[in-house]
Amino acid sequence: MNAKIITDHQIAASLLLAGKLVSFPTETVYGLGADARNLAAVKEVFSVKNRPNNHPLIVHLASIDLLHNVASAIPDYAYKLAQHFWPGPLTLVFKKTAAISPIITGAQDTVAVRIPAHPLTLQVLADFPCGLVGPSANRFGRISPTSAADVIEELGMQSSLAAVLDGGTCTIGIESTIIDCSSGIPALLRHGQINVQQLEEVLGCKLAQHASTQRISGNLKSHYAPQALTSLATHAEIIEFITRFPTKKIGVISLQEPLESHNQIVQWIYAKANVASYAQNLYRNLRLLDQYAPDYILIEDLPQTSAWQAINDRLKKATSKIKISDLLADGTSAHA
Ligand code: TXA
Ligand code: MG
Repeated sequence: MNAKIITDHQIAASLLLAGKLVSFPTETVYGLGADARNLAAVKEVFSVKNRPNNHPLIVHLASIDLLHNVASAIPDYAYKLAQHFWPGPLTLVFKKTAAISPIITGAQDTVAVRIPAHPLTLQVLADFPCGLVGPSANRFGRISPTSAADVIEELGMQSSLAAVLDGGTCTIGIESTIIDCSSGIPALLRHGQINVQQLEEVLGCKLAQHASTQRISGNLKSHYAPQALTSLATHAEIIEFITRFPTKKIGVISLQEPLESHNQIVQWIYAKANVASYAQNLYRNLRLLDQYAPDYILIEDLPQTSAWQAINDRLKKATSKIKISDLLADGTSAHA
C-alpha cells in the first residue's frame, strides 16, 4: 500500500498544494482530490481512476463567495439553491470561467460545483480559491467509497495517491444530486438524497428533465457496479433461486431477515426499509458481498416511490447485466 491514512487537514492541504492527490471525505462519498489549478494533478486524477477524459469532474469549494472564481452567468435561482442546500449533497452546473481548464470539464463550457458538508474537508478547501476537483475515489464504473478503508481498497496501490484524509464513514452514502443551472431553466441531471420535491419547493418552479447531451458518467447504463453478476429480485424469487441452486454462492441484500433454514453458503444482508440507512450502507453492503466472491448478488426490489428514487437509480445501474427472471427460466446459466 502506498497511500497513507491521515487525519490532519493541514497535512492534506500541503500535499495538495504540492500537486499531490489526496482523497477527502464528504457527507456523500469520498472524493479523489487535486488542486483545480494544477493541470498535471488534474490529469493524474483521470489516470488513477482510469476515467475517460471526456467525463467532467466536480469542483469542490469552501464557500459561496468563491463561486464567481469558477462559475459565470449564475442565475438567481441557483443562488436560491446554493444558499438553501450548501454546504450539502447538491452539485450545480454553470458556465465556467477561464480559471477552469477544459481538462476538468471534459472540453465542455460548463463546470459542476459543490460545497460539501464535511468539517475536515471544508478546512482543506479554505486553501484553494479555485477549489479541488473531486470525482468519487473509485476506479471508473465501480462502487463509490464511503470510508477511508474503501478508498484504500479501490486506489491504495496507486503510487500517485499520496494520502487519504480519514473523516469517518460518510453519513449519506450516495453521490450528490446534480442540477444543471447553465440555462434559464434548472434541470435535474442526477438523483441524490436531496429530492425533486425539496428542490422544487425552494425553486418555486418545476425542474426540467435532464439534457441527454451532457456527459454524466452516472448516466452510463452499467455503473456503480459490483464485480459479481448482480440482479434485482423479489423476495420470493430470491428464495426460489436459493432453493433451486443450493451449491451456488449467493450474496443477498434483503429487506427481510434470513430464513433459519438458509444454506450455509448464502451471505444474507438484512437492510432495513429506511431510506437514509439503506443509502448510507448500500455501497458498503455491495463491497462486503463482493469480498465474499459470490456467483451472484441478488438485491430485493425496493418501493418505487420518490423517496427511494436515488437508490433505485443506483441499483438499476448496478444490476444492468443480468435478470433474475432469465436465471430462473434457464437453470443451465445459473449452473454455468
Ligand atoms: O457526491 C458527489 O458528487 C461526489 C463527492 C466526492 O463530491 N462526487 C462525485 O463525482 O460523485 P463523480 O465524478 O463520481 O461524478 C460527478 C458527476 C459525473 O457524472 C459527471 O459527468 C458530472 O458529475 N459532471 C461533472 N461536470 C459536469 C458538467 N460540466 N456538466 C454535466 N455534468 C457534469
Ligand atoms: Mg463517481
